[in-house]
This record gives sequence, structure tokens and C-alpha cells, in this order.
Amino acid sequence: MQLWSGAGTIAAMQDLDAFLKGLPKAELHLHIEGSLEPEQMFAFAQRNGVTLPYASVEEIRAAYSFSRLQDFLDIYYAGAGVLLTEADFKDLALAYFERLAADGGRHAEIFFDPQTHTDRGVPFSVVADGLLAGMAEAQARWGVTSKLILCFLRHLDEDAAFATLAAAEPYLDRIVGVGLDSSEVGNPPAKFARVFAAAKVKGLKLVAHAGEEGPPEYVYEALDALHVDRIDHGNRSLEDAALVARLAREGMTLTVCPLSNLKLCVVDDMTRHPLKRMLELGLHATVNSDDPAYFGGYLNDNYRAAIAGLGLSKAELVQLAKNSFAGSFLSEAEKAAGIAEVEAYAAAH
Ligand code: HPA
Ligand code: ZN
Repeated sequence: MQLWSGAGTIAAMQDLDAFLKGLPKAELHLHIEGSLEPEQMFAFAQRNGVTLPYASVEEIRAAYSFSRLQDFLDIYYAGAGVLLTEADFKDLALAYFERLAADGGRHAEIFFDPQTHTDRGVPFSVVADGLLAGMAEAQARWGVTSKLILCFLRHLDEDAAFATLAAAEPYLDRIVGVGLDSSEVGNPPAKFARVFAAAKVKGLKLVAHAGEEGPPEYVYEALDALHVDRIDHGNRSLEDAALVARLAREGMTLTVCPLSNLKLCVVDDMTRHPLKRMLELGLHATVNSDDPAYFGGYLNDNYRAAIAGLGLSKAELVQLAKNSFAGSFLSEAEKAAGIAEVEAYAAAH
């Protein structure tokens, strides 16, 4: 795995790294279950009396070698089995937000996968109450704001997605939107057109993973059958010039995840990651960590990998940070405040 493009001197890289650390930014693509670090997996297993199929933290990390999305998902769903109580979900969220705050993160819109938990007997309310408690405490401790996005598992059927939306009903004032994740190929967006329409009627925002492993047609479907407000990943859109032109024209935000793409072999080398090309094509790309405990890094690690692999400039970092606020589900005034904060920081550094 090659991270260094050879572009720029070491000193210039260090300069950009210092700039990156203080750069205000938002994260728009983060699966909270994917922030479960091996150490925490062990701690939760112990306190909940769950037996893990691993003898040590090292053994867990050694298992994180993936050649495609499904390899990761199998391990990710198994790992989530240690999450049982409200305290587990709260602690999980707090650990993530602490890292986000240390990375200059101001705001996050976090995914959760309720079906992963309800299908093994953990009530929706335990998951939601725990995460919401962690989000509130993170705001009090570090000033980091956040919103919650409920993801439907696309390998399950439409009825199961509708049942999940029904279970979420008492929480809909605290959930900003719905998303679509899990095994992409073979589970096109249109499978969930009706449940997304029902979610829209309830005033929820809509996002979907599309074009990570799936073809450009899945991105078209996310736009035309689901009417999404954002595309998660979207890498394979670049195979279709008309789609690129449309995404640029419509100002569609793409939540791009560099280290995830490398770990899941969506790209073979960081020097060939499409992020820089996306910006050059006028796409509203953002940088995100996806499942940081599994893919080798949190938000700034993803920016760093892109800087090293693609030789991103300071101006491109500023654009990415502005895109992260502009593409968020914050109010227009909050978005403008985030963007102004980025501009003031850039002007001063
Ligand atoms: N893709 C699809 N589903 C997921 C992912 C991802 O990167 N992470 C967690 N669920
Ligand atoms: Zn994802």
C-alpha cells in the first residue's frame, strides 16, 4: 500500500498537517458501530459476559484484512454483538466524539444500524437512548454538535425496513434522516423506493450508499428512485460523464471515505484515489472516515492519507472543509457559520 506520492517536501507536508489539525470540519459519513475499537470490544464483551472468537486485541486487528465490502461487513456485524446496553452505546459514541473533537471536528452526522441490534434482541430504544445520551454529553463536554441518521440494511427486505421505520416513530424528532448501507451489489436502491418515500413524508432527510462497489446505475437510482439529499461514497459515478455533469450541476454532496476505499479495495492505491479528480470536476466531495476502527484511521487520518497520496493543496483542504458544512443537515445559518469559521481560520493560517 503506497501512501506517498512524492509530491511536496517533508516540510510542506508538516505545514499542511499543522494546518489540518486546527481546520474546522464536519464529518458526514460515520457508522458509529464502525468506531468500535478492539480494546473497547474486549471491554464491552467482558462487562456483558459475551465470548469473543478472538484471544487478544492483536488477533482482532489481524482479522481486519479485507478484499471487498462483504469481508468487512461479516466482521463488523459480529463485532457489534458486544453492544448490549444503553451504556455501551453511550460510551461508544463518547469515544468517537472525543476523537472527532481532537481532530478539529465541530459537527458529525452519524449513522446507526438498528436492525443489527434489534435482530439480536436489543430494543431500538436501548440503542437510540444510548447514542442520544452520548451525543448530548459530547456537546456539553467538547462543544461538538451531531445528528443521527438511521440506516436500513439493504441485504434485508423492504418489510424489515418498514418495521424499523415504525420502531423509530417515537424518536423521529431526534433523527434527522434515513440512509441505506450494507451489501450494495445485488441490492439496488430501488428496492427501498417506497420506504424512502414514506420517510420523506415524515420530514426525514434521505441519503444512500451508492457507487462504492455498485455501478453508476445505482447512483442514478439513488437520485431518481430514492430522491436522496446526499450520496455516500459515489466513487463509481466517475465512470459516467453524464452522471458527473449532473451531480456537479445539482450540487450533490458526495461523502467520500479514502481509507475505507483503500482497505476495501475500492481503490488499489491512494495515489489513484478519485478525490482530487472529483474536486477538479466540480463535484461537492467531502472527506470522512466511514468505519474508523476497522479502516485504520479517524477523520484527520483520512485527510492525511489524501494529502500524502494526492498532494492536496491548502486550498483543496479548505474547499473540502467548506463542503463538509455546506453538505450537512445543519440549518442554513449554522452552515454559513461553519463555512465562515473555515474561511476565518484559512485567512489567519
Ligand atoms: N458500506 C456499506 N455498508 C457499510 C459500510 C460501508 O462502507 N460501513 C458500514 N456499513
Ligand atoms: Zn459507509
